[in-house]
Amino acid sequence: MTDSAKHLLLVEDEAALRQATAEQLADHGYLVEQADSGEAALAKLADFAFDIIITDLRLPGIDGSAVVEGAVERYPEIIAIVVTGYGTVKDAVEAIKRGAWDFVSKPYQIDELLHVLDSALEQRRLKSENAYLRAQLEKRDRFEGIVGRGPAMSRLFQLLELVAPTGSTILISGETGSGKEVVARSIHQGSPRRLHRFVALNCSAIPETLLEAELFGVVRGAYTGADSNRQGRLEQAHKGTLFLDEVGTMSAALQMKLLRVLQEREFERVGDSHTIKVDVRVIAATNSDLGRLVAEGHFREDLFYRLNVIPVQLPPLRERKEDIPLLVQHFLDKFAGGASLPPSRDASADRRSLGGGGSGERSLRKTVSQEGLRRLMAYHWPGNVRQLENAIERAVAFSAGRAQIDAGDLPTEIQQAPEAALASAVTLPESGLDLGEFIDGIERDLVQRALERTGGNKGQAARLLGLKRTTLVEKLKRQQ
Ligand SMILES: Nc1ncnc2c1ncn2[C@@H]1O[C@H](COP(=O)(O)OP(=O)(O)OP(=O)(O)O)[C@@H](O)[C@H]1O
Ligand SMILES: [Mg+2]
Repeated sequence: MTDSAKHLLLVEDEAALRQATAEQLADHGYLVEQADSGEAALAKLADFAFDIIITDLRLPGIDGSAVVEGAVERYPEIIAIVVTGYGTVKDAVEAIKRGAWDFVSKPYQIDELLHVLDSALEQRRLKSENAYLRAQLEKRDRFEGIVGRGPAMSRLFQLLELVAPTGSTILISGETGSGKEVVARSIHQGSPRRLHRFVALNCSAIPETLLEAELFGVVRGAYTGADSNRQGRLEQAHKGTLFLDEVGTMSAALQMKLLRVLQEREFERVGDSHTIKVDVRVIAATNSDLGRLVAEGHFREDLFYRLNVIPVQLPPLRERKEDIPLLVQHFLDKFAGGASLPPSRDASADRRSLGGGGSGERSLRKTVSQEGLRRLMAYHWPGNVRQLENAIERAVAFSAGRAQIDAGDLPTEIQQAPEAALASAVTLPESGLDLGEFIDGIERDLVQRALERTGGNKGQAARLLGLKRTTLVEKLKRQQ
């Protein structure tokens, strides 16, 4: 530890274990306080801002998860580590959802605990050191491939920033075309594993019989057609990241084999008895509700928990309309990018060839009309970003020779999308809202705009809003 000594609260009901662990931690420079119950821990947390809390999950009375939740709620910067008994990974996952940083399973060696602590402290330090720089860079570099700056995507970037550098298994869920693979690649890029390979395998695109060989590799003669030894994707991804797409479609037999890989990081090639060890980070993706598949008995529960260590949920495009203009421009630049402009007789194309790109190129940027954008934002996008990408590619082709794409260049179903009414543009925040206050806010805003448009003429403003003049005056009085 480079910083000053860290204050650590150790919560454990077994006195002998607690005492021994506390002494070992103190030997390594931590300033340790002990608590023998969840209640005692919360009382100590109320009085003192610890840097770290390590808590057993199973405690009489208030359990470890609740202690973590209480600690993190009060001190967002605290590092909470939970200690789990045998076979309680599920509880550990729950604790992580409630804000725990990591977990250690009992029985553990002190070195294991120290290692978890060191890496947590290191990540915290890097995070705060980088915070300033990153704020200046507007986080643009880190997740470059992912376009989107609205609240939903900002939350996603924050999560990715935290989890990308760790080796944790991640489960990405989202509708088709919502960008699961893009996100998986950027997680890989944001981790130390970027120096090694990102290997993708789509579990639904390959017949069941071949999938096993694809994943684990085969030895010659394992089955007819296996005419040479072949590495599987797992081996190819050694030290890198393995992206398992559509993981929900895996057969029961393969699910069991994958579970072993996740638990032991080892496997055998098909037709071989030699065990191979690998160091891979697994990122899985699904567009079905894996939790439901578990409930229906189609997906192993233990495998689900192994994969779902860190759940990443991608919102569908219709729930982040605010990103549509950015995405549209991104795809316009990708597909028009100056290349599809009319032949050289066009003056602007000449300028491009003379200027050799640079600033000239900017003025050639294809754009979309506001009416076109309104249609694009009103549409419900069942195929999400992929569908938007295709629509823009098509519109670029249809609008050859024109600088601006119009509503008429868009596919019919999008042209016919009803213009978004104000109400459908409003999203209900997860935390809920105060309906009365919200509606009052909208009313205030519209009244204000009506007055602005009519230069403050109350009679005209009232007519614009379909109100009697007296009603408008009444409202204005109440709004003051
Ligand atoms: N946020 C984004 N920024 C830029 N491009 C994106 C974004 N999200 C998706 N795309 C693009 O949309 C297309 C679909 O993305 P991707 O393949 O990651 O989706 P997916 O969720 O894996 O879809 P599926 O479930 O069908 O496999 C890709 O061409 C990708 O480049
Ligand atoms: Mg995909």
